[in-house]
Parts: sequence; C-alpha cells; structure tokens
Amino acid sequence: MSTSIPLDEAPAAPVAEDRDDRLDETVRRARDAAGALRALDQETVDRIVWAMVVAGLENAIDLAELAMEETGFGVLEDKVIKNYIATEFLYDYLKDKRTVGVIEEDTERGIQYVAEPIGVVLALLPITNPTSTALFKAIVAAKTRNAIIFRPSARAARCATRAIELLQAAGESAGLPPNALQVVPDATLEVSQYLFHHPGVDLIWTTGGPKAVAATNAAGKPCISVGAGNAPVYLHASADVPMAVVDILISKTFDASLICPAEQTLVVDDAIYDDVVAELARMGARILGPDEVDALAACAFDAAGRPQLEALGRSCTDLAGLAGFASGDEKVLLAPLPADLEALAAHPLVQEKLMPVLGLVRSPSVEHALDACVLVTEHGGLGHTSAVYATDEAVIARFAERVQTGRVLVNAPTAVGALGGVYNRMTPTFSLGCGTWGGGNTTDNINYRNLLNVKAVARRQTPPQWFRVPSDTYFNTGAIENLRALAAGSAVIVTDAGTERRGVVEEVRRHLACTDVRVFAGVEPEPSEEQVRRGVAMLGDTPPELIVAVGGGSVIDAAKAMRLFHENPELTMRELTLPFLDARKRVAHYPDSARHRIRLAALPTTAGTGSEVSPAAVLTHEGRKLTLVDYSLVPDVAIVDPRLTLTLPPVMTADTGIDALTHALEAYVSIFASPFTDAFCLQAMHLILDALPRAVADGGDLEARTDMANAATIAGLAFSNAFVGVNHALAHAVGARFGVAHGRANGLFLPHVLRYNAAIPRKFMPAPGYGAYVVPQKLAQAAWVLGLGGHSEEVARERLFERVDALLADVGMPTTVAAAGIDVEAYRAALPELVRDAFRDASLRTNPRMPLLEELGALFQKAS
Ligand SMILES: NC(=O)c1ccc[n+]([C@@H]2O[C@H](COP(=O)([O-])OP(=O)(O)OC[C@H]3O[C@@H](n4cnc5c(N)ncnc54)[C@H](O)[C@@H]3O)[C@@H](O)[C@H]2O)c1
Ligand SMILES: [Fe+2]
Repeated sequence: MSTSIPLDEAPAAPVAEDRDDRLDETVRRARDAAGALRALDQETVDRIVWAMVVAGLENAIDLAELAMEETGFGVLEDKVIKNYIATEFLYDYLKDKRTVGVIEEDTERGIQYVAEPIGVVLALLPITNPTSTALFKAIVAAKTRNAIIFRPSARAARCATRAIELLQAAGESAGLPPNALQVVPDATLEVSQYLFHHPGVDLIWTTGGPKAVAATNAAGKPCISVGAGNAPVYLHASADVPMAVVDILISKTFDASLICPAEQTLVVDDAIYDDVVAELARMGARILGPDEVDALAACAFDAAGRPQLEALGRSCTDLAGLAGFASGDEKVLLAPLPADLEALAAHPLVQEKLMPVLGLVRSPSVEHALDACVLVTEHGGLGHTSAVYATDEAVIARFAERVQTGRVLVNAPTAVGALGGVYNRMTPTFSLGCGTWGGGNTTDNINYRNLLNVKAVARRQTPPQWFRVPSDTYFNTGAIENLRALAAGSAVIVTDAGTERRGVVEEVRRHLACTDVRVFAGVEPEPSEEQVRRGVAMLGDTPPELIVAVGGGSVIDAAKAMRLFHENPELTMRELTLPFLDARKRVAHYPDSARHRIRLAALPTTAGTGSEVSPAAVLTHEGRKLTLVDYSLVPDVAIVDPRLTLTLPPVMTADTGIDALTHALEAYVSIFASPFTDAFCLQAMHLILDALPRAVADGGDLEARTDMANAATIAGLAFSNAFVGVNHALAHAVGARFGVAHGRANGLFLPHVLRYNAAIPRKFMPAPGYGAYVVPQKLAQAAWVLGLGGHSEEVARERLFERVDALLADVGMPTTVAAAGIDVEAYRAALPELVRDAFRDASLRTNPRMPLLEELGALFQKAS
C-alpha cells in the first residue's frame, strides 16, 4: 500500500556514522523479543493473534477517529472498514494457518516445510492507512513470531503508535513477549537511515511511495518493498454498466481514495461511453468541463507534477472549493482526459489521484483501450493493480496479458478488491507487492508466508524402478515355428545380404502364414541412418502389418529404426539422440509405444546383442555410433531359435558372445541394477562362461548354441532395464572409428573396466537408488554364485576377473588394439577424439563410477 506523495519521510540521507544509544537499545530489545518469540509454540501464537485481533476490532472506531484527527483526511466510516479488514478478514485467513514448525507436508515428494521466524523486522507505515497497516503488520508479525519495529509516517505517528500499544498490551496478556511490537515515532531521515543499516535489523518491510521503496532497496538488506499504484480500469462494450458504475463509486470513494489500488482512470469503449457517463452522473458523479479539469489539476499537483497535500483525501466539495468552481455534494469528480495517447501521457491527471477524482478516456477500439491502460500504469502504476469490466472472455484474456500489474481484477472494484478477501479469494493484505516493475521482488499480496524463513526438509527419494520385457519371447530349437501364429495379412522381412544368401529368408517365408511377403535385404553391419531411411522408403505408403527382422543386432536395430521412422516421419536423429543425464527426465521425445501400426518380430541369428528384446537401436551417424533408446523400440515378439546361429563362424561367435557377457557384467553393476536384473545377469554369466568356448570350438554344438542364444537374450532382458556402462562407451567409440566389430571392441576393454569399477572411485555417480558403493561386493558375490570360490571378497573378485580373462583368451579375443587389427599410431593419434566420443556416449550415464575424462583416456591407453 502506498502513495506516491513525497510527504512521507523517504529516507535519503547518508548513513549516520555516530552510534545512537537510544535506537541501539530499541533494536536490542527487539532482538530479545525475537529470541523469546522463537520459543513460542503454535497454540500460544494463535492465542496471541486472537487477543490482538480482538483488541483491533474493539478499537477499530477509536483508531479510525484518531487517524482522521491526526491526518485530517479520509472518510471515518471507511477507515473503520479498513481496520476491520486488517483484523477480522486477516484473522479469517490466518486462523487455520500453521506458522510454527512443520507448516506443510508433501508426503508424495517427501518434503516437509519447516517455518522459522526472520527475527527483527523494521516496518514503514504509510500516511494513507496508518492504523490499518499497523494492525495488519503487527498481527502478521506475531503470527510469524517476528519482532517488529515500526516507523510510522511523520503525519500519522500518534494514531499508529496508539494502535501498536493496544496490540502489544493485548498480545502480552496472551503471552506475547515484551517489546515484540515497538514504535520509533521520531520521523527524521537520520533515524530511518540508522535503522535501515542497523545490523540488528533482519528485514525491512516498507509500504510507501517510490522514494521510500528506493531507499529501502538501497539499504542493502533483505526487504519487502511495495510501491505506488495508478490503477487503470477498462470498461469494455460487453461490461455490465450499472454494476461497474456502482463498483467504481464504492471503491473510488473508499476512504476518499486514500488507498493505492483505488481506481484512477476509466478507459471506456466508445459504444458504452455515453451510457457509462450518464449512469455515473445518475449515481452521483459529476463530469467536469475542460476549464474545471485544468483548475483541478492545477490545485492537485504542482508544476512539477507532485501531488499537493491539501488535496489528498478531500471531499469533492473541498476540492471544488480549492479549484475555484462550485460543487454540490458529489461522490466523485470525473475529469475527461484526451484519447490521443500522446496528449494523455502529458496530462497531469494521468497519474495517481489520491482523492475522489477519476480520469475518463473515451476509447475508439479495444486496442486503443489496452494501450491507454498500459500508458496509465506506466505513469506510476506498474506492478500494482488494474481492472477490467467485460463479459467477453477474450477481452479479459487480452487485458490480463497486456497490462503489467500484480493484480488484475475482473468485474470488481480495485480499492477494496485488491486488498483480497472481499470481492475475491485473493490473500487479504495491506501490502501489495508490485514485482520488479515496482522495484520489489514479488507481486504477492504480502502475508505471513513472506515473513517466514521456510526450510524444506527433503527426504531422500529413491525413484521407483521397473522391469519391462517384450510380451512374447519364444526360445529353443523350433522356436521359429511360432512365426506362423503371428496373424498378419502382409509382412516385410528385413535382413542382410548374407543371411538372405544362407537361405534364412526362405525359411522365414515358409513359416509365415501370409503370402504378401516382401524382402528388404539392404542392411549392412553397423547400419547407418541412410540405410534405415532406404528401408523406410521401401516400406512405402502401404506398410505391412508385420516386420520380421532376421539377422544379427545390426539387422534388428535397423528394423526397429525403420518402424520408428516410418510411423513417425517427422522424427530426426538429432532430436532422438539428444544428450541426457537421466533417461527418465530426458528432453528427447519418443512416440507412445502403444500406438504401433506395424508389429515387429525379431529373430536373432547371432547370440550377442539382445536387440531382439532390448529398447536400444545403435546406428552409425556421422562417424559416431548413436544409440536410440526407448521402450517404443522393443520388438513385439522375440523368436530365439538357436538353429539360426549354427552357421555363425567362430570369430563372430566369440565376438557376439563377448558382447552378451559384457551386457551381463555391465548391467550387474549399473546404477539401475535391481534384484530383477541381477538374477538375469548372473544366469547369463553362468551360461556364457560355460557355453561360449564350446560354441566357438564347435559351431555345430546345438546345446552350446542353445545356451548361448538364451544367455544373450537373458542378458538383453537385464540391460534393457539396467542399461550398460563405460565399457560400451569405449567400445562404441573405437568400433565406429576403426570398424572393429562391436563385441570384439567390448572384449578389448572388459578386463580393464571390471577392475576399474571394482576400485574405489575417484568420483561417484550420483544415484539415489544405488546407496553405498556396492560394486566390489557384488562382483565377489557373482564369483561365489558362479562357483568360483574364494575365501574373501577380494579373492573371489580376483577369481571372477581371472575367469573372464581366461574366457577371452580361450575364445581368441585380442587383448590389444594392435591384435584387433588397429593401427597403433592411428589409435594413439585419435585418443583425444575417442575420449570425447566415449564421454558423450549415453552408456556412461548408468556406470556406477563416474568416468572422468582422464580416466577414459587411461582406459583407452590400457588396450594399446
Ligand atoms: N540394440 C541393442 O540392444 C544392441 C546391443 C548391443 C549391440 N548392438 C549393436 O548390434 C550391432 C552388432 O550386432 P551383431 O553383433 O549381432 O552383429 P551384426 O548384426 O553386425 O552381424 C555381423 C555379421 O555377422 C553376420 N551374421 C549374422 N548372423 C549370422 C549367422 N547366423 N551366420 C553367419 N553369419 C551371420 C551378418 O551377416 C554380419 O555380416 C552393432 O551395431 C552393435 O552396436 C545393439
Ligand atoms: Fe553391446
């Protein structure tokens, strides 16, 4: 609440150098009181508030009389209402509010909000509402357990002091500590400045004009500073005119307009202008002629546009007398102002008029009216209050969008409306935040929340996890028979040239029930986006009901991407592979997996990637391997028939098998690992350690092939939910740059990454669900479950590492980049880029240890 009048003691003097014992003593007493207040419980606080409210109510009339007597302006009856609002309405709002201890609890998010008082508040009071603002601030301070030192306006110190004394006494009878409410009535600038800069003052709460606000802000302390108003009111052609007129008269005459949200200028649509003016006149307003407007402006404001004290809060008769024209007993004087915006801006009456004078602008269009309202706010009313009378919702919306005020009242009076609780459900207040527009930091209707330090006591929250798998997985020899059960009128078989040559496509075709079958055999290892786009084009305008992907991970990944891009042609690789920190919060948006038009069946011919069940598809894009990950990519059906892998040559058997082992080992220690995924990881490790050497040694060993096929899918189910880690980041970087098969690249780093993750990290990965760093123990447990023995965790872990090392050697995995066919010099030269590529890889996000760039470099070095 404020006035733009300079008659308040806007402190602008330099900081007083000398100590002032009297003021120091006041602050010291306030600090003592603050200490005692802090110890009060909610019940006592509420009792105190009750006692203060009762005292305010019982003295509402006396205090209003005192204010009238001292300030000499305003309307007694309205000042009484203001005092009621500051007590009764405030009480109604505050009575159930918790302000001590836990005041709010958000169980779902695990956060408790604990309130603490601020301490000592220095409160400046305006001349316009000296007693009501004092009552309001005192009660809010008590409710929030803050001590408060009041600085009333020089011209309203007596009535404000009386109000404070009454409330202190009433509060004390209910347990309020002595000196919780104090007044420093000496209104000199030096005193204000001294207190502004006093180290014992924690917060300045100013209600005043622009100068007081500026001085408060300049004090360099936390502050709530609420400034001046200049409320425009737009009456649109759709307005209810008789209601609007009564509202405006109630509000503009309220305490003779001595209240900062009061209506200042009416902007009226041409179509209803005459009706509005006639109705205003009928209800007791008087339209001024041009000379009268000039005369009034001349006596209300000085040449510099500053308001004149004699004119504030006067009756129309007094004002007419001052301006030298005759007047009856009118309620409000209407001053027609120019519609031309430039002329309006230059008119002295465009500003705040704390007297029963309303500017009146006839507006030819909605656009003009909005411009005029904005213009009015720009003359001292930014951030404060405005109003619109309309039934046309579109107009209300446009008004609310255009005008920059903290409160936009719709079909309600501003003076009483902005205070909240009377014409709307806004928070009751005598302190109207004007936001940064008004030099403050909030547009709130200031109340108890603004006077509390609220601590968020946030419980650790472990996000819920999941275990998602495709709906159907068929496995073991003969699983391919299940193709026949897939009811589909048409199908496209996606594969690569080699698989087609081996006759696998024909076999698939034989098992399909439909006859409309096309073949896309254009997938190459490590597929690129271009290949996928070609596949999308091949699917054409009449896509099949079913895609059957038959091949290695490359084929299945390509088929997943084909379906995705065919169903959602607008998607781009750039968007889908946007970097993320937590997959659950990522920015990339994937389509809803429930809305596939094409079903996807995946038949792996390698035992490695797990792509037949996984939500991932790895594509080569601009020299990097990028992973698309989303559950919408998961195939609908996985058919894992080990016979399809019988033809896999030994080297590829080894490569792909080591990929599967890497999946199991990485998912096992991932920050998303769960008891569900652990079970799958351990079983996959068990099967692979035993079966892979046999499958490599004898490709025709169906039993070994069966174990490997199942293990790869099982590991796929694990990493589909727990994801992989740094090993895959390294392998993707090397694989893309040097054309090394994916599994082979994984094998290069696996021994080093295992040991790296088992050591105590230099930096941990923040992961609420992970808790303690359990990688070392988990790896030991794996060794025990796998029957590797070991009397201590350390020994068990070592045995696991050795077992993996032995397997890699057994199946002929290269241990160095040179052995993997990479030129060592080229590898060393590429190290900085490899580190960058690995660092950008999404697989890093779930590694338990946070890989530092330097550590990535060291891991790359280990394989060279
Ligand atoms: N989507 C995922 O979840 C996931 C996981 C890990 C890896 N990957 C990706 O999968 C790709 C690697 O897949 P992959 O390891 O299965 O290899 P691949 O699909 O690239 O196949 C490698 C080669 O083996 C041939 N081949 C496949 N099956 C055969 C068989 N039964 N007999 C003879 N030859 C056969 C293929 O024709 C191809 O030439 C990489 O791009 C990798 O990044 C994907
Ligand atoms: Fe992999």
